[in-house]
Amino acid sequence: MKLVKLLANLGYGSRREVQGMIRSGVVTDDEGTRLGEKDVPPHERIRVRGEPLDPPFPLVILLHKPDGYTCSTEDPGATVYELLPERFPRRNPALHTVGRLDKDTTGLLLLTDDGKLSHRIVHPKSGCLKTYHAVLDRPLTGDEGALFGSGELVLRGESKPLLPAGFEALGEREALVTLHEGRYHQVRRMFAAAGNHVVSLRRISIGGLALPNDLPEGSWRGATAQELDLLFHQTDT
Ligand code: URA
Repeated sequence: MKLVKLLANLGYGSRREVQGMIRSGVVTDDEGTRLGEKDVPPHERIRVRGEPLDPPFPLVILLHKPDGYTCSTEDPGATVYELLPERFPRRNPALHTVGRLDKDTTGLLLLTDDGKLSHRIVHPKSGCLKTYHAVLDRPLTGDEGALFGSGELVLRGESKPLLPAGFEALGEREALVTLHEGRYHQVRRMFAAAGNHVVSLRRISIGGLALPNDLPEGSWRGATAQELDLLFHQTDT
């Protein structure tokens, strides 16, 4: 790919702006030699103002989503995209969230520019389970496991039953719920169907990939190849 197109696709600016950057000499190789529009060194050798270039397509980001951020690109309030470098939302192909978390749900959120990968992760048939830790307003009744696992629970306003979901009580008002699918407000609506109310909700894993301990709330990093493998390799269902 030509240098101008590459930098524009990575969100460094419009083609015209990127041409201006190249002419001004801020685009160099790793030895500080100025690059021209016709130069195409390997991605890892390109520098912009001395900084390595952002990662190429396909990019997969792990974000520890805090409370209060939406997954929308258009919300007038705080969005998860504000937690990333300002170039990232300008990438082409576009970076998007893999499914969505509610504004007040925290935990592991993936973003990628790879549409096929995100489709695979959200598709129930791929077997990539999502696990949530829920804190509840009222004590558990003991009936939730059977209800959620039945394959017969129909949420209010819907006609198609939910796929059987995993349930594990952790305490009087705390539980893990494991889903194959991602319907709107699903965990909150499941507990509402069980006569309870979710006070806080956190996604703790996607497939075999747990929210990393070294990822503080609000921070992000690129996924490693090993972490990508874990998405579709789950031992504990
Ligand atoms: N279920 C919910 O209710 N909310 C989320 O954000 C994710 C799953």
